[in-house]
Amino acid sequence: MDIKTIMVVGAGQMGSGIAQVCAMAGYNVILHDLTQDHINRGFATITRNVTRQVEKGKMTEEEKEQVLGRLTTSLDLQNASEVDLVIEAVVENMEVKTKLFAQLDEFAPPHTILATNTSSLPITEIAAATKRPEKVIGMHFMNPVPVMKLVEIIRGLATADDVYETIEHITRKLNKVPVEVHDFPGFVSNRILMPMINEAIYALYEGVATKEAIDAVMKLGMNHPMGPLTLADFIGLDTCLYIMETLHEGFGDDKYRPCPLLRKYVKAGWLGRKTGRGFYTYE
Ligand code: CAA
Repeated sequence: MDIKTIMVVGAGQMGSGIAQVCAMAGYNVILHDLTQDHINRGFATITRNVTRQVEKGKMTEEEKEQVLGRLTTSLDLQNASEVDLVIEAVVENMEVKTKLFAQLDEFAPPHTILATNTSSLPITEIAAATKRPEKVIGMHFMNPVPVMKLVEIIRGLATADDVYETIEHITRKLNKVPVEVHDFPGFVSNRILMPMINEAIYALYEGVATKEAIDAVMKLGMNHPMGPLTLADFIGLDTCLYIMETLHEGFGDDKYRPCPLLRKYVKAGWLGRKTGRGFYTYE
């Protein structure tokens, strides 16, 4: 399938990163969100990132202008009528996503692939909200999108082989590495990452060590670029809790029970970097 124009739905941290890498790979990108304010913030992040690339000599000023020139914005989902691929990166909420996919199914032409960047929700259930489940697929990017090499590609029950192959090809064009996984709670990335983060929170909760000590053990002892509590703040504690709940509900095993301290922080609104406070405080 020939993909020329991509709509990214959601201009937040993930959506703006996805829009950036798609525009850098030469695709025309429509960045869609509910409000102009959201779009402006997403665009500002992209502009800041590509300007830094120019400053570092990794991109010319002309290339930067070309990348930004390939990006347009949208407040109207009917613009999906012009695209070959939609990548959805909105809030992790099944009701929101199924509503959105039903609308996209209505507005997008029959050939358009509908991909979701969900970090743990079932692709098969999102696909069932459309009349084209064979064209629905998971395309799970990692944060920060411009830096991280992995894209987990998740096949729903009905995802067609040619749709998988197209997404795999696009992922390589984005200069990322595709890894194929099947539709199980948390896929592979979060099935392994989140219980580790949750266990680190339990270690803090039980007083095994301080937050700094827990992070130091994993950074210096296991060569992780960030300690698990720093990483949890980076991802967002609400997202971590949501994923743990999805794992707990999906597998029913007590080993996925979210740590009470994680619940407490989320209730307090201490969501990590984005709110200025999580396990650590941020300016
Ligand atoms: N956006 C764009 N570029 C960024 C960036 C951002 N938010 N943050 C850092 N970078 C770039 C820097 O500009 C720098 O680029 P150059 O090499 O071209 O100079 C490069 O990344 C390295 O940055 P720094 O030197 O500032 O810092 P660092 O070496 O500590 O790396 C990091 C920062 C890449 C974030 C690193 O700490 C890291 O890999 N952390 C772990 C991230 C991780 O685990 N992500 C997955 C989270 S889970 C997820 O996303 C899935 C989910 O479903 C929850």
